[in-house]
Amino acid sequence: MADPYAIPPLYDLEYQHQADDIAFYVAVAARSGGPVLELGCGNGRLMLPIARSGVHIDGVDASASMLADLERKRALEPEHIRDRIHARLGDFRTAQVEPVHKVVIWPFNALHHCPTGADVVKVLDTAKRALVPDGTIYLDCYLPDRKLYARTPHGRYEERTFTDPRDGGTLMSWETGFWDEQKRIHHVTYIYQHADGHEESLDLKLHMYEKDELLKFIRDAGLKILWQSSDFFGAPMAPTSLKWVMQLVPA
Ligand SMILES: C[S@@+](CC[C@H](N)C(=O)[O-])C[C@H]1O[C@@H](n2cnc3c(N)ncnc32)[C@H](O)[C@@H]1O
Repeated sequence: MADPYAIPPLYDLEYQHQADDIAFYVAVAARSGGPVLELGCGNGRLMLPIARSGVHIDGVDASASMLADLERKRALEPEHIRDRIHARLGDFRTAQVEPVHKVVIWPFNALHHCPTGADVVKVLDTAKRALVPDGTIYLDCYLPDRKLYARTPHGRYEERTFTDPRDGGTLMSWETGFWDEQKRIHHVTYIYQHADGHEESLDLKLHMYEKDELLKFIRDAGLKILWQSSDFFGAPMAPTSLKWVMQLVPA
């Protein structure tokens, strides 16, 4: 299986138009004044704009390649912005954290990297332990999308053409995947085909949880929901919502 985070330039290419959540998390961070902790900080898609907005941000991530790419990007920033960014390699389930953060964010569906509910509770506990007494947690995740899972298994979807940032070549891209109902894992493979025909692929395993299960994990972690929305603009939750954005505080 190809590590989905092994090739950061492809990650950046794939999510280059993802912007709503950046504005949301930058506003959350700026309102708090920081410091902020990002669990699963990756290669800085959120860390860099948050630091540029004037807020100190710490990060933990399990991918050495994503962190190396973050370091590359950080080095391009002016010193006062570089100094606001501190990231380290670690597992967000077990990371040692200091209770100094006004806000902990666990963004961009990173929850779906948790293979079990116990793992979700562990990450929520990490977030809780990292907060100052009046601190708060923000996260976003998906809710199960039966229509998406009804796609033809291994069919070819979301075809796009990119310019490869590494060599300027043309990349044909599409995604394929399947839904494992028994294990409740949405397997997604991103395929990038070069002009000479050779392919790179990245496999993502999204562990899906029902809303009621997630509510139980939140309670089990000693947290409660202070605010929630079905998007990054404040739309109310509905029974059909496929996205869940929430603010949590200790119960
Ligand atoms: C969808 S990416 C989000 C990255 C970044 N927050 C962003 O918004 O672009 C999920 C990130 O979680 C990290 N991750 C997955 N499992 C992890 C774990 N157990 N501990 C820490 N980081 C993990 C991955 O390496 C990846 O960088």
